[in-house]
Amino acid sequence: MIVCHCKVVSDRDVRAALSDGARSVSAVCRATGAGTDCGSCVFTVKALVCAHHAEDAALLEADGAAS
Ligand code: FES
Repeated sequence: MIVCHCKVVSDRDVRAALSDGARSVSAVCRATGAGTDCGSCVFTVKALVCAHHAEDAALLEADGAAS
């Protein structure tokens, strides 16, 4: 799915930036170029960043419950 039409950035590109260490919306935008033109995609980028952090938190909780 294309997240940013101005810079042709996909959700895969956003997830790759997150996997490479981007931890904030601005870091993802810097890494991918998303949100650097009209800005209408920033909410979608933010939703992907939040979903990624929620997945990390769920994994940490699962790790904590297992130990
Ligand atoms: S759609 Fe992303 S900057 Fe315009």
